[in-house]
Amino acid sequence: MADSAAEALPDLTAGVAASSVASGGALLGRVGEDEVLLARAGDRFFAVGAHCTHYHGALAEGLVVGDTVRCPLHHACFSLETGEALRAPALDPIACWRVERRGDVVFVREKISEPPPAPHGGSTGSSRHPSSIVIVGGGAAGLAAADMLRRERYEGPIVMISADADPPVDRPNLSKDYLAGEAQDDWIPMWPSDAYAQRKIELLLGSRVSSIDPGGRAVLLENGSRRDFGALLIATGADPVRLPIPGADSAQVLYLRSFADSRAIVERARTAKHVVVVGGSFIGLEVSAALRTRGVAVDIVAPEHVPLERVMGPEVGRFVQSLHAAHGVVFHLGETVTSVAGRTVTLSGGGTLDADFVVMGVGVKPAIAVAERSGLAVDRGITVNEFLETSTPGIFAAGDVARWPDPHSGERIRVEHWVVAERQGQVAARNMLGRREPFDAVPFFWSQHYDVTIRYVGHAERWETVTISGSLDARDASVSFMRGGRTLAVATVSRDRENLQAELELEQTTAPSR
Ligand SMILES: Cc1cc2nc3c(=O)[nH]c(=O)nc-3n(C[C@H](O)[C@H](O)[C@H](O)COP(=O)(O)OP(=O)(O)OC[C@H]3O[C@@H](n4cnc5c(N)ncnc54)[C@H](O)[C@@H]3O)c2cc1C
Ligand code: FES
Repeated sequence: MADSAAEALPDLTAGVAASSVASGGALLGRVGEDEVLLARAGDRFFAVGAHCTHYHGALAEGLVVGDTVRCPLHHACFSLETGEALRAPALDPIACWRVERRGDVVFVREKISEPPPAPHGGSTGSSRHPSSIVIVGGGAAGLAAADMLRRERYEGPIVMISADADPPVDRPNLSKDYLAGEAQDDWIPMWPSDAYAQRKIELLLGSRVSSIDPGGRAVLLENGSRRDFGALLIATGADPVRLPIPGADSAQVLYLRSFADSRAIVERARTAKHVVVVGGSFIGLEVSAALRTRGVAVDIVAPEHVPLERVMGPEVGRFVQSLHAAHGVVFHLGETVTSVAGRTVTLSGGGTLDADFVVMGVGVKPAIAVAERSGLAVDRGITVNEFLETSTPGIFAAGDVARWPDPHSGERIRVEHWVVAERQGQVAARNMLGRREPFDAVPFFWSQHYDVTIRYVGHAERWETVTISGSLDARDASVSFMRGGRTLAVATVSRDRENLQAELELEQTTAPSR
């Protein structure tokens, strides 16, 4: 960072007293123009780049855990030793510098240029590796899996088949900055277009898999072609729910899942004055915030009495509602939409709203049709074991489609979180290469409403008590969801480090029955 902020930081090449960094702590300094974090684990010191490779989060505000550092924004985790991005959502490493200790003084020396070694001792061309790997789905889980396979030095062919017209994109951005007009088109693809060829990943876009032949070890595409696999990952995500009402499929009604969907809303929003959003879910609320940022008037119609109440409880729900109301969003709660005819949206209470267009955000359903048709076990998602393997050996599932045995809640759960999908893709990739690594990450997601971001760690479908420390109205709070005396999940506003600490504590807990 060639700016005055970096210049004001301590010069780590001049040396700092070892005692000035506590074990488990870190000091932000600089090496030349680079902001560098000097972190300590016991008597070991490490120097790494100070910014996360995901969205540039300040690692100095994160948490040092053993010889790793976690990012406060979306909980990526990096090795302090090698810089490797150990846990999504960051996929790329941070830089490392050599550290030298002389007596009680620690000096940061030159940047280490060699790439990190194969993670976890992974070896090239192992005989346990499958002959080829097919990934069905070009989303969070699929891309993270492909990335991890190559990072693990898998040398066989990888084919990624995606029904999307675009290569994998940063999907969470589609309802946030991109939709609000604050992110450019070229920020949205996960990788530059030539990265697939460089990594020898064959990308089949606009291609839909119709079924799997588990015995013949092949997937069949809707265009009639067939792809053999040694191991298969199903990462087909979820599809927006379509309400069975007149007009739900008309050109007036837009849905949001893909980059193309987001572009279509942006295009219509350019000339729109008034939009009706159906659904008070995260997507519906984020779309509303983005449209308000564009100056478009928004009415939200939702059946619940408090938005997000089912997921986050009435306290957080009312807080989020108040944020939107303060930005001019008009709520019609306890109502549903019964039809959309031209510009007229009719509500269950009999009232009507005029809309340039309608955005439906009434939830998603996991895209399990291919798995179901192919005889894999399904139960409101594709059933996987702790290794993310389906009922058919060698076929794995990850992301929004997968229902897995979560060791923390003791329940089989399925979630719709970006970070979970990526981490499952990573674990599934390693397991396709013969590792037997259980998926035991604590679920995490975030949601953004104007200038307020809510971070949520854990999983609470039902809870008995909610305790709030701090004040939601003051935008400084930590909300714990508890059952049977145990904390199941924690949501925070402006308390990012507390959210990381909650993650750490939840990692230590397993369900009482286990
Ligand atoms: C607009 C939006 C905003 C979001 N914001 C957040 C957020 O802020 N925080 C958060 O935690 N989560 C967020 N999410 C949820 C998050 O994006 C998902 O949980 C995540 O993308 C799931 O990853 P996935 O790989 O399972 O599925 P996806 O990313 O949806 O990818 C599925 C892929 O499978 C393909 N596919 C489906 N069927 C077939 C088939 N038969 N053949 C071939 N390909 C197929 C699709 O085309 C797609 O490429 C958001 C989601 C959306 C839509
Ligand atoms: S910016 Fe670090 S995890 Fe997102």
